[in-house]
Amino acid sequence: MSTVKFYDEANKVPLEMHKVRVVQKLTLLPVEERQKRIEAAGNNTFLLQNKDVFMDMLTDSGVNAMSDRQVAAQFVADDSYAGSESCNRLVKAIEEVFGTKYFLPAHQGRAAENILAEAFVKPGQVTLMNFHFTTTKAHITRLGGSVVELVTAKGLEPQNDVPFKGDFDLNRLREEIATRGKDNIGFVRIEAGTNLIGGQPISMDNMLAVAEICREAGVISVLDASLLQDNVYFIKTRDPKYRDVPAQEIYRKLADACDIVYWSARKLGFSRGGAIITNNADLYTRMRTFVPLYEGFLTYGGMEVRSMESFAVGMLESLDMEYINQGPIFIEYLVSELDKAGVPVVKPAGGLGAHLNASEIVPHLPHNQYPAGALGAALYIAGGIRGMERGTLSEQREPDGTERYAELELLRLAVPRRVFTLSQIKYVVDRVKWLYDNRELIGGLDFYEEPAVLRFFFGRLRPIGDWQQRLVKKFRDDFGDSL
Ligand SMILES: Cc1ncc(COP(=O)(O)O)c(C=O)c1O
Repeated sequence: MSTVKFYDEANKVPLEMHKVRVVQKLTLLPVEERQKRIEAAGNNTFLLQNKDVFMDMLTDSGVNAMSDRQVAAQFVADDSYAGSESCNRLVKAIEEVFGTKYFLPAHQGRAAENILAEAFVKPGQVTLMNFHFTTTKAHITRLGGSVVELVTAKGLEPQNDVPFKGDFDLNRLREEIATRGKDNIGFVRIEAGTNLIGGQPISMDNMLAVAEICREAGVISVLDASLLQDNVYFIKTRDPKYRDVPAQEIYRKLADACDIVYWSARKLGFSRGGAIITNNADLYTRMRTFVPLYEGFLTYGGMEVRSMESFAVGMLESLDMEYINQGPIFIEYLVSELDKAGVPVVKPAGGLGAHLNASEIVPHLPHNQYPAGALGAALYIAGGIRGMERGTLSEQREPDGTERYAELELLRLAVPRRVFTLSQIKYVVDRVKWLYDNRELIGGLDFYEEPAVLRFFFGRLRPIGDWQQRLVKKFRDDFGDSL
């Protein structure tokens, strides 16, 4: 991978290896308006209107900037239900990256998870994984299965800066398989770039070891590759063994080792859609049954042809380190600037975004007042910045209705790839610093509408007390008539 050294290395900044050719206007509403908008959204950043958001850091899903080649490819799409050339081009690109035999399409990552759960999860079975993802777990529990998480203890320590915090505890994995027996395990899921613990990578050695343990035990191994692109960057930059190994070799080695690989093309592929691949004819046939049932015919699976074309080009671009380093280097800059300012953040910087540690920023708020959700509402008020709660609010209640408190209370500030400029990232740092200095003003939240499934998507909450009005007043006192 090529590097660019700065003459003034002390003032080094992340350097974009692309230029911007199309822009989209942004609006920053006055602080009083921001407070009204978050109230109208039930203090849930998912329910804000994008026109009311200045920095949309909700997710990296489907909001990454496409390359000129991806957009150009959309114009040559072959619109047909069956046997479309767009699908052929996509299959060829996926083969080029992963070298696998069989491909199944899905309309996005969670649709692939639905197919996996339908094919391999029976009531009472357990699915082992380094850490759950919200939609993965919801599909498994919906079918009567359950999830056991086996990430190493260090992965859950926000300040512990080991390089691969997404690693499995291999001893626990062996123990779980031995004590439960293979017939009681749906599959083992390896999540690359572990989303809910801060986009933290898993090492190559650990992934290969998990796949080997599964192979020996006769348990299906599944790699969730949605965030694999960032993970490949970290493998190459944090593990000296892989520094000079081409990205393609890493993708292929993983696809060879795991029984099944699936992902969201909203992330890996910089497009829309999803995919499942395997080399195993039997597993392929078992999953294939569900594609026409839930997704669509096997040559589109719920994706529209233009997305398949940009997905194909995006897959080939995911081999190019100058593309795939853009997310991680911006995130690293954001994390280190926040860290320098004393703001508690998850370290080391992972993929996906910066993760503010709400447990330390607002320690006065208990889990059942949703500290990370409250911090998210406060940050929107402070700067028109939309983050995503990744804490207790994003958990499912236990079957008896009690809260399941999250291990980590995080506010994620996603950095969609190739979207923001450095000055915008600096603005985020500035507003987070201000909010951190005024953190004692932030109060809790309370549900007034709580859906039973995936409540974080459309639940509504009210602030406990008048803390938001006091936050607005302090903003005006400190910033005068600034937006
Ligand atoms: C690790 C991981 N797996 C699966 C998904 C689900 O993908 P999608 O949003 O396309 O349904 C996501 C989405 O954020 C993810 O981060």
